Amino acid sequence: MAGPALRIFSGIQPTGRKHLGNHIGAIAQYVTSQERGEGIFCIVDLHALTVAYDPAELRERLYDTTAILLAAGLDPARCILFRQSDVREHTELTWLLSSVTELGRLERMHQFRDKSDAQRRMVRAGLLFYPVLMAADVLAYRAHEVPVGEDQREHVELMRDVADNFNRRFAGGEEVLVVPELRMPEVGARIMDLQDPTRKMSTTGASEQGTVYVLDEPKAIEKKVKSAVTDSGSAVRRGDGKEGIANLIEILAAVRGIGPAEVEESSASMRYGEFKALVAEAVVEYLAPVRERYTELREDERGLEAVLGQGAERARAIASGTLADVRELMGVGAPSAIATSV
Ligand code: TYM
Repeated sequence: MAGPALRIFSGIQPTGRKHLGNHIGAIAQYVTSQERGEGIFCIVDLHALTVAYDPAELRERLYDTTAILLAAGLDPARCILFRQSDVREHTELTWLLSSVTELGRLERMHQFRDKSDAQRRMVRAGLLFYPVLMAADVLAYRAHEVPVGEDQREHVELMRDVADNFNRRFAGGEEVLVVPELRMPEVGARIMDLQDPTRKMSTTGASEQGTVYVLDEPKAIEKKVKSAVTDSGSAVRRGDGKEGIANLIEILAAVRGIGPAEVEESSASMRYGEFKALVAEAVVEYLAPVRERYTELREDERGLEAVLGQGAERARAIASGTLADVRELMGVGAPSAIATSV
């Protein structure tokens, strides 16, 4: 069945404490996707089970994330926003796709190696399967584009190969599963930790002081940006050994919607202190509307459930069609010709 001209899918973990990297690298792209095509956005609670977690907290964080996405500008009238576990097609498709996914490839994935190193005591089997579930998320919707930050590149490459393997093995090369394109923002695809600009800003690995959260108070944002680690030089310019300043340039460019070269030009005469103050102010302004709308949205859990429920229904209607095709081609379940005639 033909879908829309441009279908865009992305997923986000329900960690609740979404940071500036998530916002610039991904959420801002989700919001603009709504103008460009059919946006489908999924809060991936099943992916969150691949590391140690607390069940009650998972529910809370899921609502936090839903409210953040709505506050950032996702409009349920213009996109589909839903919770992954509400649409069971994702888990079924994960299993089906495992038959065209090579184990060695999963074992070599960066995320698996990094996270399993960090969790010596108990590496969950789900962590190995994480990328297959992610492939299923996207492929179930035959999405054309996947807006993500740089850290998801390897995952998108894998899902492209999985789709391709499936099409060759089961569909005679026909694009039954759409091979999706990676879409990264030109500026801000990899925002770095403010305290350690050689590491990406992240909820898990990075430093608390180096991570600006979307819901941080303006004062906290100011403090974090103003105490960002820089170098001993004085030029507001990118270059070797200038990762800290380069990161701030990138952040300012992203929140202003301009290029980094333009930032360098307009800030050429500034000292680091002055430049940091400028970046802090811009980030505060950038995140303020999200924080302001968030509180009211977060209070209304029934309202959030209603949004997610409607989203899941619309998502299921699309995913179930893909699953029917995949099952048929894979020889799983009753053949459709017989199933529809009895
Ligand atoms: P998650 O929840 O870790 O991150 C959400 C999005 O934020 C981007 N991101 C960043 N962008 C720029 N700079 C950073 N420092 C930074 N940190 C994070 C991520 O690239 C991501 O786009 N595996 C995914 C969730 C997922 C998914 C999917 C994504 C599940 N299924 C299907 C796309 C399609 C993840 O953990 O995202």
